[in-house]
Amino acid sequence: MSQPRILVLAASLRGGSLNRRLAELFARRVTEQGGQATLPDLRDYAMPLYDGDIEQNEGIPATAKALHQVFAGHQGIFIASPEYNSALSPLLVNILSWVSRVKDNGGQGAAFGTPVYALGSASPGGFGGYRGLVALRGVLELGLGARVLPQMVSVPAAHQAFDEAGELTTPAGAMVGTLAGQLLKAVG
Ligand SMILES: Cc1cc2nc3c(=O)[nH]c(=O)nc-3n(C[C@H](O)[C@H](O)[C@H](O)COP(=O)(O)O)c2cc1C
Repeated sequence: MSQPRILVLAASLRGGSLNRRLAELFARRVTEQGGQATLPDLRDYAMPLYDGDIEQNEGIPATAKALHQVFAGHQGIFIASPEYNSALSPLLVNILSWVSRVKDNGGQGAAFGTPVYALGSASPGGFGGYRGLVALRGVLELGLGARVLPQMVSVPAAHQAFDEAGELTTPAGAMVGTLAGQLLKAVG
């Protein structure tokens, strides 16, 4: 049987990103449980701020089309998403906006209807970015027709929660492994 392919996205470009650490941890838990994790650097998919004039005059950026293909090529997608003002980061809003505009290769359904989504967040704050995940769930489920697993993992005080090996020293650590297992089961 082939290994389930899981795309793991860190929706922050910041060098010291806490969500990148969460994404890397999730990817390790996927691999340990028999899945195949892909963890791209979203800097490789840089795209302009969504603008209808750009879409009309220049078309959809090649990076957005490439990312659409990456989404569609995976059975499960985990997004580690920072919370900005209780909502999504501008990076993630922009990516989801552009990718949702791709009409080729199965269009929106291939990128958002086919993979199963799982969500996580890490924040120095006390809520761990959970409110942003609720907003992200709304975009994925209501806006894009995605299936999102009910359980989500958020890591409060994340600046103090990872050890040198990148493991979580808080109760959220166990939840990361559980969520990875749930995603693999959902797509298997
Ligand atoms: C404009 C802005 C708004 C933010 N709003 C929130 C917020 O609502 N809740 C929260 O927990 N953290 C908030 N933060 C802090 C981020 O969670 C923190 O910078 C986090 O480390 C970003 O994710 P990263 O480490 O993956 O880059 C905000 C940061 C910025 C720059």
